Amino acid sequence: MSAEAYKTAEGVDVHVTNPGGKHRVIVTKELPGSTWRETLAKSDCRVEVAQGENILSQAELKGLCSGKVDGVIGQLTEAWDADMFKHLKGTGCRVYSNYAVGFNNVEVPGASAVGIPVGNTPGVLTETTAELAAALTLAAARRVVEADVFMRAGKFAGWLPNMFVGNLLQGKTVGIIGAGRIGAAYARMMVEGHKMSCVYYDMLQNTRLEGYVKSYSAFLESQGEKGVTIERAESPEGVFAAADVVSLHCALDNKSKHLVNAAMLGKMKKDAVLINTARGPVHNEADLVAHLKANPTFRVGLDVFENEPDMYPGLAHCPNAVIVPHIASASMWTRGGMASLAAANVRGVLEGFPIWNSPDVEPFLESSTLPDACPSIVNGKELKMKHMDA
Ligand code: DGY
Repeated sequence: MSAEAYKTAEGVDVHVTNPGGKHRVIVTKELPGSTWRETLAKSDCRVEVAQGENILSQAELKGLCSGKVDGVIGQLTEAWDADMFKHLKGTGCRVYSNYAVGFNNVEVPGASAVGIPVGNTPGVLTETTAELAAALTLAAARRVVEADVFMRAGKFAGWLPNMFVGNLLQGKTVGIIGAGRIGAAYARMMVEGHKMSCVYYDMLQNTRLEGYVKSYSAFLESQGEKGVTIERAESPEGVFAAADVVSLHCALDNKSKHLVNAAMLGKMKKDAVLINTARGPVHNEADLVAHLKANPTFRVGLDVFENEPDMYPGLAHCPNAVIVPHIASASMWTRGGMASLAAANVRGVLEGFPIWNSPDVEPFLESSTLPDACPSIVNGKELKMKHMDA
């Protein structure tokens, strides 16, 4: 495939593949894997990818998406608001896909108002994100990062009975806020891996998760071991008060913003572990830092931050916080899969394909099995887009 490059008026370097392609698709960051390019090539797209690691401003995004644009793949770090969608409409843009399952950075009503479908990438982040939540849980409960820092500083002078004593997870209770795909996958990892009981809060009952935990409990009992339980709490408070570990897996909206504040933290056990791999603003970071300082046995594992990429002052100095830079979806398989799904959303709309009708998105991950469909369009209903027949 031929390639060329240019620089926008705002100074953004752009790499172009298939310069003679029929549809002009802008991608605001380099994406992993190669399937996504193959997907766009199937529809003869000219693909323009912004180079560099800095987060693009609105002016840079507008400059990048100027002239005739057919489709855009953007990032969760960019603000795709109503004004941006009006601008995109003016370019003739027909589809925007977020390179993320979450889309709180996108003003979906603004996109719907100008008739632009918004895609996202569900179905490939589930296990990868749940695994990072589990990793943060273990790291926080067993003080792995504190101990690592201690070793690297050359402070280890011999084994001591009280050195880095943390919490045992086995047989305790794991709490889940938001028992959708990722929350349920994490719950299963903790229940199966550590024989924890589960308490969850979700607007919807997760009968599949409940059935799974009950069957696992029956299996444990058949082996002469103590069973585990699962309970759906009536309110988030019920989870925060009862659990030894609480992991957040809800979407960010008006209800979940600052769900974890001083009052909620006050309901938690003094030595509980809190994990956030969802979205930063679900926790009030000032309250969280104050709570970490006042309660040294309380521990937190954070993948996301209230004002990303910044951290609230003092958080970095809390030894009882394990902090990583929004990497929950960062496995090669998932990041490549997200790119394939975002590209398939763009291709699907440009080709006039209907919306996929199953949560199984695996066929989109290989160009040889690529369905003639858009894997996930969040405002498909508002825009009266067709769904594939079951
Ligand atoms: C998403 O896709 O929403 C994740 O936060 C990316 O890691």
